[in-house]
Amino acid sequence: MEREQWGSRVGFILATIGSAIGLGNIWRFPYITYENGGGAFLIPYLFAMITVGIPFMILEFGMGHKYKGTSPHVFAHLNSKFAWLGWFQVFIAIIIMMYYSAIIGWTLSYFSMSFTQAWGTDPNAFFYTKYLKLGSNHSPTALGSLQPHIVLAMLIEWTVCFIAIFTGIKSGIERLNKVMMPLLFIMILALIGKMIMMPGALTGINYLFKPDFSKISDPKVWSAAYGQIFFTLSVGFSIMIAYSSYLPKKSDISNNALMTVLINCGFSILAGIMIFAILGNMAYEQSKPMADVVTSGIGLAFVTIPSAINTLPFPYIIGPLFFFTLVIAGISSHLSVIEAVTASIMDKFKISRKKSVIIVCGIAFVVSLAFATNGGLLLLDIIDYFINNFALLLSCLFELVIMGWIIKLNDIHEHVDNISDFKIGNWFEICLRFISPLFLIVIIASNIYFTLTDGYKGYSKFDLLIFGWGLTALILVIAVLINKMSKEEI
Ligand code: ALA
Repeated sequence: MEREQWGSRVGFILATIGSAIGLGNIWRFPYITYENGGGAFLIPYLFAMITVGIPFMILEFGMGHKYKGTSPHVFAHLNSKFAWLGWFQVFIAIIIMMYYSAIIGWTLSYFSMSFTQAWGTDPNAFFYTKYLKLGSNHSPTALGSLQPHIVLAMLIEWTVCFIAIFTGIKSGIERLNKVMMPLLFIMILALIGKMIMMPGALTGINYLFKPDFSKISDPKVWSAAYGQIFFTLSVGFSIMIAYSSYLPKKSDISNNALMTVLINCGFSILAGIMIFAILGNMAYEQSKPMADVVTSGIGLAFVTIPSAINTLPFPYIIGPLFFFTLVIAGISSHLSVIEAVTASIMDKFKISRKKSVIIVCGIAFVVSLAFATNGGLLLLDIIDYFINNFALLLSCLFELVIMGWIIKLNDIHEHVDNISDFKIGNWFEICLRFISPLFLIVIIASNIYFTLTDGYKGYSKFDLLIFGWGLTALILVIAVLINKMSKEEI
């Protein structure tokens, strides 16, 4: 079967940017920056971008392009003993694919509610009690029943992704990203343009970027910068390898990687400005100090921002604009995760794209409904924490050790140099063999230490053992078993 190809270079870059820019840029980056030294955080962040982000992206683009396949295929090609890492990455993608759809489902619901601010005057109570209908039990073992309004929102989101992937790389994924990405940039610029004029906005932005240089000597700050770079660039879970496997023979790998990383990180800074302008205005309107209104993640998107929207003069414009920005950033990332899984199944079982996407989306949609229950948020919270802080970082570390120390990284280096406009130089190997693994080991070790000693958000040891440690270990074991029991066809 002939491998599909992107229709154009622009289409490929828009799709990789679409994958990288996600909820992480909008609700994670601003908060991490603020918490870790404000403007001063940009120093470790840019350092991480140069030493890990760019070389890792070049590496994955090079691997996908050279070996023309998804992660299991690529690692098996390098050495059949390493196919397990490919499957481990696919399992990470499978899990992210499921819970990501729930979050986008919530944002879709909030998009529709934002026209009338249906969340009312107490967005906190509304989100947890009325919308999620979260039970009083602080454990995902009591999932409760399905919430039809969340199921419907998730169904809509899955359908959009299904159609795009079913239609193919060029006519589906590329075409949708060509519309979504420019729209995303226009919307965020419109939001910044509007919000920056509001009272308190500049104080908020100032608060975000005010540098606290004393933080630079704190290893935790460096660890946060590196952690954010891995997450935001969608590396280590099969996506960029799958996307670059559809590149034509003559492709400028290093330039494409550089553009993807720079545009993604630039977008994060824009998102920081947008979020802190909104928070600054909210602090001003409610006469609260900034420190009292700053949050991240789910609390930011579904509680704080709706409260801020309530006090704005044109809530029915800013609200839908904000939530639509989240929906688009989410869908373009979700698409890429589903594609990574679909393509791996296609490669493995030699079935058509259409068959593979029906199987993947059909099963994943049904299983993802676990997140549409009363306890769905708790399940999502634990799984998301473990996947991002352990599984994903471990996968990146394994990849670097295998590529940098066992297999000749030089082959990818040469391959990239031969087809790209500029030569990447020795820093590529220095960063991937020494700097990145070193940081990863420190980050993973400290994550393990702090989670073992402090737990996570008050969840019981049993819940963390089953849905966190257990799940992470389970996907690793299944990946190894698949590797042992079946041979990848090269
Ligand atoms: N890279 C995507 C994000 O930042 C997954 O959300």
